[in-house]
Amino acid sequence: MVKERIGLGILVSGRGSNFQAILDAIGKGSLLANVNVVISDRPEVEALERAKKLNVQNVCVEASSFGSREAHERALVKILESSHVDLVVLAGYRRLLSTVLIQAFKNRIINIHPSILPAFRGLKAQKQALDYGVRISGCTVHLVEEEMDGGPIIVQAAVPVFPDDTEESLSSRILDQEHRIYPLAIQWFAEGRINVEGRQVFVQDFSHQKEMTLANPLTCG
Ligand code: GRF
Repeated sequence: MVKERIGLGILVSGRGSNFQAILDAIGKGSLLANVNVVISDRPEVEALERAKKLNVQNVCVEASSFGSREAHERALVKILESSHVDLVVLAGYRRLLSTVLIQAFKNRIINIHPSILPAFRGLKAQKQALDYGVRISGCTVHLVEEEMDGGPIIVQAAVPVFPDDTEESLSSRILDQEHRIYPLAIQWFAEGRINVEGRQVFVQDFSHQKEMTLANPLTCG
């Protein structure tokens, strides 16, 4: 049976604009979920301030207080389980996960990355895209596995890259799409519509527009 509202555990390290987009979607009623807990690995970050202001349960668990990555994650798993979290949402969480967290929440951890994966994994994906000279970039929501930015892909959104783009202007264009597709992917998960078979993710009852394309520069005539 699919629960009507799933419980989210959101892991953050910084600004928290994706966390805010998730809250906004919940507020609008387009995402049927509750944010049960927000966990930061750094103190005094904007994301934690947002959580405090909105009375969302929040906690900072610094990795430096633990002897190993695994010990840190065991503490996170305890909090996530006791907060009845169904889905762990990485929203600008700047740590690579170990098998401890990944196995505890198998196929129930998602991440958003600011590129069309598998291109430009890792840090500064928008700068990597500009430096490479691609004409189209975007963002990807994917399941989290041990390999960095390597898990099965749920949804991607593409944006054009313009000749006068800076890292900031491209990041901001991509971020608008992140805020659109992340809540959407979480809602699909909440509706039990995501099936994973190997590297493939199948979203049930999804209508594909077969003629949908994006070309940049525009190819007309
Ligand atoms: C986003 O660009 C996301 O794609 C990446 O980290 C950034 C987090 O931004 N993983 P915010 O903290 O959600 O504002």
